[in-house]
Amino acid sequence: MSYSRIIGTGGYLPEKILSNEDLERMVDTSDQWILERTGIRTRHLASENQGTCDLAEKAAVLALTAAGIAASELDLIIVATTTPDRIFPSTACLLQARLGNHGAIAFDVQAVCSGFIYALSIADKFIKTGTVRHALVIGAETFSRLLDWTDRNTCVLFGDGAGAVVLKASEEPGILSTHLHADGSYKDMLTVPATVEQGRLKGDGFVKMHGHDVFKFAVKSLDRIVKEILATNQLDENAIDWLIPHQANIRIIKATAKRLKLPMEKVVVTVSEHGNTSAASVPLALDVAVRDGRIQRDHTLLLEAVGGGFTWGAVLVKY
Ligand code: UT7
Repeated sequence: MSYSRIIGTGGYLPEKILSNEDLERMVDTSDQWILERTGIRTRHLASENQGTCDLAEKAAVLALTAAGIAASELDLIIVATTTPDRIFPSTACLLQARLGNHGAIAFDVQAVCSGFIYALSIADKFIKTGTVRHALVIGAETFSRLLDWTDRNTCVLFGDGAGAVVLKASEEPGILSTHLHADGSYKDMLTVPATVEQGRLKGDGFVKMHGHDVFKFAVKSLDRIVKEILATNQLDENAIDWLIPHQANIRIIKATAKRLKLPMEKVVVTVSEHGNTSAASVPLALDVAVRDGRIQRDHTLLLEAVGGGFTWGAVLVKY
């Protein structure tokens, strides 16, 4: 049976930057509060004429170039997003047309901040069964469009971006194991409780979050999932070269690292630069550490995320 190997990564952050100082002029907050409670300094915002597919395309082209394959060679395109350009077709189909690929399987995955982990796991299963040889897996979001810019509880936390990986079927390991969970009974803890009906938005179209409860849930579920993945693979924390966590809050990241007894030098942290980019955050962090040379071939990577749903998951990778 084949493994899925990561053969290329890419990341894209829109040019427009919103700093904590900018936010001080918009809501009752401070650079000090945001930095101390979240670790975020800046977030990037898509321009008015940029959609999620535009961000996804930039990350995809970089990942395909790094992988050295053409878009026509892709058999599968999955876009993890909570902020698709259209209700339908999927952002994956829109992206497929942009890339000039015809005939590959293409669909979106909606698991909010865990979306990339879900998508990576699904792509791995397609490759393992021999259906797919090359897959493009993307996390892309224009999450800023869901924010109420008068709500300091949420607007300081999120940003826009996209990250991508190209996977290839290989006899060499690759993705070692994937673990996914969800519990819909937490549906109201983090939500945009709206839909489109009769051509109009029905309900509240802004992000609603019980931040403190999300924080506690995130720390607990991430602790459980990283222990689960290590136990399944009969490994201890010393086997992990790099933890690549969902970039939502530096305190959540530090709590996970501490419970894993991993020094922060082994954790890839990009949250300060782009805030919580939802499904884009894990592949963005992965791309940064691949491109700056920290992640090397044969390193063992632990990717994890938690998000609305609630959903949570982890992937163990021999890079
Ligand atoms: O992928 C999952 C996505 N979501 C998350 O990861 C969010 C997880 N939660 C968190 O990151 C944290 O809970 C927050 C950063 C959102 C908040 O930190 P906290 O330490 O849990 O603070 P808190 O909610 O307990 O609020 C403390 C105080 C409150 O004031 P009072 O009631 O103590 O007077 C808030 O009103 O901080 C206040 N506050 C703010 N103050 C300045 C809330 N937002 C802000 C703000 N600036 N932006």
